[in-house]
Amino acid sequence: MQAKWWQKAVVYQVYPRSFQDSNNDGIGDLQGIIQRLPYIKKLGVDVIWLNPVYKTSNVDGGYDISDYQAINPDFGNLADFQQLITTAHKMDLKIIMDLVVNHSSSEHHWFQESKKSKSNPYRDYYIWRDPVEGHEPNNWGSFFSGPAWTFDSTTGQYYLHLFAKEQPDLNWENPQVRTSVFDMMNWWALQGIDGFRMDVISMLSKPAGLPDGPKESGALYGDGGSLVANGKHEHEYLREMNQEVLSKYNWLTVGETAGVTIEEAQKYADLNGSELNMVFQFEHMGLDGNSDPRLGKWSDQKASLTALRNNLAKWQTALANKAWNSLFWNNHDQPRVVSRFGNDSQKYRVLSAKMLAAMLHGMQGTPYIYQGEEIGMTNTNFHSFDQVVDVEARNAYHELVEKEKIVSSEKLLHYFSQRSRDNARTPMPWNDSANAGFTSVQPWMTLNPNYSQINVAAALSDKNSVFYFYQELIKMRHDLPVITDGDFKLVAGNDDDPDVFAYTRNNADQHLLVICNYTQKQLTRHYELPTQAKLIIQNYSETVADQLRPYETKIYLW
Ligand code: GLC
Ligand code: CA
Repeated sequence: MQAKWWQKAVVYQVYPRSFQDSNNDGIGDLQGIIQRLPYIKKLGVDVIWLNPVYKTSNVDGGYDISDYQAINPDFGNLADFQQLITTAHKMDLKIIMDLVVNHSSSEHHWFQESKKSKSNPYRDYYIWRDPVEGHEPNNWGSFFSGPAWTFDSTTGQYYLHLFAKEQPDLNWENPQVRTSVFDMMNWWALQGIDGFRMDVISMLSKPAGLPDGPKESGALYGDGGSLVANGKHEHEYLREMNQEVLSKYNWLTVGETAGVTIEEAQKYADLNGSELNMVFQFEHMGLDGNSDPRLGKWSDQKASLTALRNNLAKWQTALANKAWNSLFWNNHDQPRVVSRFGNDSQKYRVLSAKMLAAMLHGMQGTPYIYQGEEIGMTNTNFHSFDQVVDVEARNAYHELVEKEKIVSSEKLLHYFSQRSRDNARTPMPWNDSANAGFTSVQPWMTLNPNYSQINVAAALSDKNSVFYFYQELIKMRHDLPVITDGDFKLVAGNDDDPDVFAYTRNNADQHLLVICNYTQKQLTRHYELPTQAKLIIQNYSETVADQLRPYETKIYLW
């Protein structure tokens, strides 16, 4: 196998609003990212994925774009962006952008025109329907609570929005929409970017007739999500995008594909390259949801190792030699992994963060590290609704606590502390000074209160920190071809071990054994190793034969 550059790469995700403020308005910005490039370089990654930096109405953290060819003035301007690209490229770092084209902002001029009249040239850029018996055209709920339709009195029709009402869905059936999007992507190519992460890209093709979605008993709305995921024309649209745009550049492209199955992923991320390089699947992020369908992701369950291993192992084996995996524990939509799958207590935070890192980075695929993950940042705590920033959580609170009275305020805030997207979005703590070196004024969002212990300066001054462990793993990935091209196998008998995840990677000349104790227990396990096997990664300073201490991880090479 001749590896592509993006198969050997490691990606670091930057959430610009929370990374580094350079002009002391409390908001992270592009000059701030430029200042911190040496830090990102020191970690050893190859690519930076920027969450949206476009002009936005900022209802959903920049995922509501009002001008696809302008930079959010809070972050800087196009000259700053070009400086970021040039500086990064000089340091041998690539930059990929977020592409958000399932929907635009309702402030985008396309939508402003579209809503003016039924005959406006932009009318069909969006999805408009007549009311049905005075109600919404179907039973779909929005991912951000409430119905997926909003009535507009100017023309007496509803428009579709799978997310917030300020995020109307674009109509991909309209060839003009597709051409507008492809032109815009080619324009960004001229600005020198190295690829795109594509927001909810699996949902472009809506089902003919927009029928009601299945409704679980007790659920508030029908599930439109299952009908729009991997829709009828989805792959046609992406193949067209590939021809018109992607095939012209040596890019990294990754689709955010909620609802993707193995069969679908094999199409999106086929090694022949007719669509995208790889996709994010979310099954492992859905193992710890609430059994009450009305609460969905709002839960405090912990995923069992068995469920997690079954899922990750399935994706490793099913895509091998057919398509390409992306590997992630965290992003701007997920709680912090050390709090979620590890143990964020003082005693075990560093050990368990390292164990989880080794579990993931030993696998086949392209890993994504979300800012702060590399220093073992934890979830934050919500004591009152005032502290909740994110639109998803705020809307859920209004619906579930105030309107439907399904759950108490305390309980939902407790779930937010476990699962809210705000956990990922607290500003990056650079040091223990006031405002954590992120800004010199009040930051746009409250810092994680533990920033005086968990910060970059502390991590860099401690050779046993999570940071240096990630650095070692990234170096290992770059040095060992078996990481890119080796097969993946569970160690014999490991498939039903409730406490330990142990797998091997093998190519013709190299072999790796990755062992991870997922628990706080001291365990006895014996693994056969050839005499020439060398221990190359570990999170305790010495090993004890046949013993696994709490959250211990080891990687052997031969
Ligand atoms: C994706 C983004 C998320 C956003 C949503 C709507 O899931 O990652 O942050 O809210 O799409 O654009
Ligand atoms: Ca700023």
